[in-house]
Amino acid sequence: MNYPFQYRQGRLFCEDVDLQKISSSLETPFYIYSKEEIKHSCRLIREGGEGYDFKPYYALKANFNPALLKIILNEGFGADIVSGGELYFAQRAGFKADSIVFAGVGKTEAELRQAVEAGIASINVESAAELYLLSRVAAELRRKVSVAIRINPDIDAKTHEYISTGLHSNKFGVDAETAFQLYRQAHADPWIEPDGIHMHIGSQIENEQPFVDAARFLLSFIDRLKAAGIEINTVDLGGGIGINYENPFARPQQARSFTRSILSSYLQVFAGRRLKLYLEVGRSVIGSAGVLISRVIYTKKTPVKNFTIIDAAMNNLIRPSLYKARHPIVPLVQSEAGRWTTDVVGPVCETGDFMAREMEMPELHEGDFIAIGGAGAYGQSQASFYNLRPLVAEYLVEGDHIKKISPALSPVELAERFEW
Ligand code: LLP
Repeated sequence: MNYPFQYRQGRLFCEDVDLQKISSSLETPFYIYSKEEIKHSCRLIREGGEGYDFKPYYALKANFNPALLKIILNEGFGADIVSGGELYFAQRAGFKADSIVFAGVGKTEAELRQAVEAGIASINVESAAELYLLSRVAAELRRKVSVAIRINPDIDAKTHEYISTGLHSNKFGVDAETAFQLYRQAHADPWIEPDGIHMHIGSQIENEQPFVDAARFLLSFIDRLKAAGIEINTVDLGGGIGINYENPFARPQQARSFTRSILSSYLQVFAGRRLKLYLEVGRSVIGSAGVLISRVIYTKKTPVKNFTIIDAAMNNLIRPSLYKARHPIVPLVQSEAGRWTTDVVGPVCETGDFMAREMEMPELHEGDFIAIGGAGAYGQSQASFYNLRPLVAEYLVEGDHIKKISPALSPVELAERFEW
C-alpha cells in the first residue's frame, strides 16, 4: 500500500482529502490521522506474528483518542495500559478485560484494585513492594490474579536515554535474581498466578539486535524457572519497535517502519517453544498515521539565523524539545520558492520550543500551511495547556471523508474548572 500522505499535483493529500483545501477552513493547528494507515500498520504487526501463538496489545499511551482505539480494537488488538485512566479508556472503548495488560512502576492501591476487580489478563509487577500490595488486594477481593514479573535484562536499546527502559540504572522492572525470588514468592501465594513474564527495553528501537539479545535472556530465565518447578506460559515482549522518521512524504513507496524485519527476528528466537507471545505496541501502530498541520505566522531573519514561526508549539508536540526528535516538515503546497536553512519554532516562551533546527526547506511565508509528519504517536497524548494554549482538535480521514474525532479545548473552557 502507498503511504496515504502523498502529493498530488503539488498538493499534499491524506488519502483523498486535499489538506490545503481543508486547512484554510479549519482552525490550526490540528492533528489529522489516516484510517487506512492505522489498519495497514495493524496488519503488518499481525502478519509478523503469523505462525506463532501471538497477540498484539496496543499501548494507549501513544494515543488514546477513542475513535482510534476502536479502529485498533477492530483489528484484533488488546490494550496495554499504564494507569487507572487508561484502564477506564480501554474498557470504555470496548476492550475486554481479558485483553488488557497493565505495566508501570507506580501502580497505586486504587489502580491495583480497579485492575483486579476488572479481571484483566495480566498485571505486570515491577517490584517486591508491588507484589506484596497486590497479594493483599487480591486476597481482600478474593480474586486470583494473573501476574507477570517485569524483568530488567540490563540491555542497552541504543535509543534516547529518556525512553530506554531495559538498563539496571532505569527504574523499570527487577533484575533476574530479584525476579527469581519474586516468582518463588508468587508461586507460593494462593491469590497470585505467576504464569507470565514481561519485558520492555525501550522505545523507538531501530534494529533487531537489542530485541534478540533480550529474547535470549528471557528464554534462559524461563528455563531456570522451569527447573525450579515454575512454569511460564505467556511471554509479554513489550513494545519499542521504531518507525522511520526520515521524510516519508518524499519517498512514499519505501518501508516506513522497521516492524517487519524487527518482528521476524524477535519472534524467531521463540520458534519451537510452546509459549503464548504478547507484543505491546504503540508507535508502530499509530506513529506514521498522523500528522500535525500548522500555519506559518511569521518568518524572521536575524544576522545568524532564519526562523519560521508557526502556530504549533511544544505544548502540541513535545518530542523535538524533549528528545531532540526529528520530525519531517513539509509544506502542504509544494513551493517553487528558494530553499533556505531555518529553525521551525512555535510561539511558546522557551528557546526549547522548536519543531526543527537548522532544517533545509522551502522559504515559506505568512499563511502557508505545513505538515509535521510522524506525529500520530506521543503527539496529542503528551499535549498540555502550557502558556495557556489550547489543546487542538483531531480529525480522522477515511477515503474522501473527514470527521472531527475530538474538538479543541480552549483556555476559556479550562477556566471553568477554577474558582475565580
Ligand atoms: N509497553 C510498555 C511497558 C511501555 O512502557 C511502552 C512505552 C510501550 C509498551 C509502547 O512502546 P512503543 O511501541 O510505543 O515504543 N514519549 C516517548 C515514548 C515513551 C514510551 C514509553 N513506553 C516518545 O515520544 O518517543
